[in-house]
Amino acid sequence: MKIMPITIPKDIDKYFFNRQKDIKKINMYLSMLEEDIPNQILITGYRGVGKTFLLKKILQDQDEKFLTAYIDLSNIYARQRTDLTEEEVMKEILFSIKNTTSKNKKMHEKIKDSIKMFLKQLKIKDYDFDNPIDIFDIPIPLIKDNYEKLSKFVMELPQKIVDSTEDIKGFIIVIDEFQLLQSVKSPEAFFWLIRSYSQIQYNVSYIFTGSVSKTSEIISMLNGQTGAFGGRMIQIDIEPFTREETKRYIDERSNNIKFNDKGFNKFYECTRGIPIYINSLCSILPGNQICDENIILENIKLNIDQIAIMWIYVWGRLSVQEREIILTLIENDGANWTLLLNELNYSKPTISKYLDSLSNKGIIEYDFNKKYIISDKMLKTWLKNMNKMEDILYSKYYSIIFNNIQQYLEPII
Ligand SMILES: Nc1ncnc2c1ncn2[C@@H]1O[C@H](COP(=O)(O)OP(=O)(O)O)[C@@H](O)[C@H]1O
Ligand SMILES: [Mg+2]
Repeated sequence: MKIMPITIPKDIDKYFFNRQKDIKKINMYLSMLEEDIPNQILITGYRGVGKTFLLKKILQDQDEKFLTAYIDLSNIYARQRTDLTEEEVMKEILFSIKNTTSKNKKMHEKIKDSIKMFLKQLKIKDYDFDNPIDIFDIPIPLIKDNYEKLSKFVMELPQKIVDSTEDIKGFIIVIDEFQLLQSVKSPEAFFWLIRSYSQIQYNVSYIFTGSVSKTSEIISMLNGQTGAFGGRMIQIDIEPFTREETKRYIDERSNNIKFNDKGFNKFYECTRGIPIYINSLCSILPGNQICDENIILENIKLNIDQIAIMWIYVWGRLSVQEREIILTLIENDGANWTLLLNELNYSKPTISKYLDSLSNKGIIEYDFNKKYIISDKMLKTWLKNMNKMEDILYSKYYSIIFNNIQQYLEPII
């Protein structure tokens, strides 16, 4: 039986489909590291469109001359269940650099000495050496009230590693779900920090990626005209599969799912070519008959929990205010400022703050009718299908679903 995964599988190549053009383009920018041209890249796209999968594939296939590190900020969040701090992010970057270098013993030996030197130069005083973390067998601090030194150390480390051996020509660092940085104390200062180091490092490329809408505030903070990178980041939007790609993908990878014309139109309209929806809907559709419009719609209705699965995680992390705004948008089929102010019991600045954060999370958009709307139809369908709005809002229900979903996901992962 063929499987179309709904999480990122271990065996990437077995399940990864196409994306040849994106891969070529991104690799072209990364390959310039060897010529001391460090491109900084920003990858956007709808949730579920395949940004993370694509980047994992790209990192996996890099030549040995480039080291790679992958940081998923949602992991820190999941572990701590509180807001992110700058320190935590730095530590996470450090861990992932450490993992990368300790995988390769030979290289590890080669760079150890120069990293030791580097640490000495930092003249660390206030480091707490009781901490069990080490890198190159050197215990690493950590770092009470010394964020400045920690960040200097972490930000300079990748270039030091490149400089310490001939074999390594560059370092590629991916920061996934970067929009979560909006909750650190000063996201702007954090972006400027990365910018200031990346400017003087010729062999380190950062790739920021996350499910944010292209016009969101966090993107302009990072790469807008007055943002830290001031438009110098190369911005690449990952598109959903086209109709033709979707057809070919299903022909090649599904369990013999067939459509009539109207059925395929409906399928494409509902999934919008977003791979996670294609995969989850295909795993529900019957393989032994021609799917028409009705079969598609019925199956979506019956299995919306399964299809909208990624939103359950997202929903579980929203504040009550954010949820209220979303439900207001759904009830009114979009809403403008006046309506939001009338319907909700919040001040204008509060509403504005939560609208920004929902847009940073890629959940809402400002449409051409000057209304805020929900970006994703499946999310809308899923929420509409819930009959106990109160419970959704105050999340009692969600801890239940959350636990169930964990059980359901484990065998797949
Ligand atoms: N190129 C692809 N080929 C096959 N499946 C894909 C592809 N891209 C995404 N998927 C499926 O969609 C899911 C969501 O992709 P993901 O990379 O997590 O999305 P994003 O990071 O953009 O939110 C993946 O777990 C995978 O099952
Ligand atoms: Mg992702």
